[in-house]
Amino acid sequence: MPEPVVTAPGPASSHRSVPVSFVRRSRRLSDGQQRLWDEQRPRYLVDVPRAAASTSVAPAFVLDLAAVPPGDGPVVVEIGSGQGDAVVTAASARPGTRFVAVEVYEPGLAHTARSAAAAGVDNLRLVQANAPEVLASALPEASVDEVWVFFPDPWRKARHTKRRLVDEAFLRLVARVLVDGGVLRFASDWEPYAEQVRDLLVAADGFVPHGETTPDGWAPRFEGRVLTGFERKGTAAGRVVHDLAYARTPRG
Ligand SMILES: C[S@@+](CC[C@H](N)C(=O)[O-])C[C@H]1O[C@@H](n2cnc3c(N)ncnc32)[C@H](O)[C@@H]1O
Repeated sequence: MPEPVVTAPGPASSHRSVPVSFVRRSRRLSDGQQRLWDEQRPRYLVDVPRAAASTSVAPAFVLDLAAVPPGDGPVVVEIGSGQGDAVVTAASARPGTRFVAVEVYEPGLAHTARSAAAAGVDNLRLVQANAPEVLASALPEASVDEVWVFFPDPWRKARHTKRRLVDEAFLRLVARVLVDGGVLRFASDWEPYAEQVRDLLVAADGFVPHGETTPDGWAPRFEGRVLTGFERKGTAAGRVVHDLAYARTPRG
């Protein structure tokens, strides 16, 4: 998995007081891709009012989950959906579930919309925004049945680890949006990051292990996760993929 290269605080951080877990990447869509994205965007992309930065979320904005087809049924939110392989496969297999994919990278969102349209998927909406801001205010409290975070950018260098998406504050935001008994699923092939998240979850208020775990606290591979390019490359490079599954404890 390529590590984003950061030599100085990037433009993605410039309007924010806390570091973000992504860097702004500028690959342009080809003319054909842009045409398709222009066609499919109105169907899949949620219109998000912004605060200061282009991937920010205006604090008053609340996502209308009733507008995600089929209008009711469980809600699954994938954070950092990349090219959309996992979420499109899952949405196609589970038409009664509402899926929301949160991603900052426009070419990834365009690819996701293309795959969704090709698979005839309707029960999916895309949100182009910084995920912590979506969890903090755009999603109502106790509205989500599952949150998925698969292969988040590992930020391997010690001086960059503060940019990792999943930290204590992120887990508090996940606990906010999950329904009682709702599940956070996480997977990473970067062991130090997986261990860090496991340890944070063990210490966090509001979470208990979901289902079976190994003595080290790992969950079995989540069967609902399609094998993506990131996972394949990591495994080919000899890295072990660790899964975590934690359930939200009932509110008091
Ligand atoms: C390493 S990729 C993994 C993609 C996908 N989950 C997979 O397994 O193939 C991580 C993705 O998370 C996205 N991302 C990173 N930080 C994010 C944030 N704060 N909000 C939304 N998306 C983010 C990146 O743009 C990137 O597409």
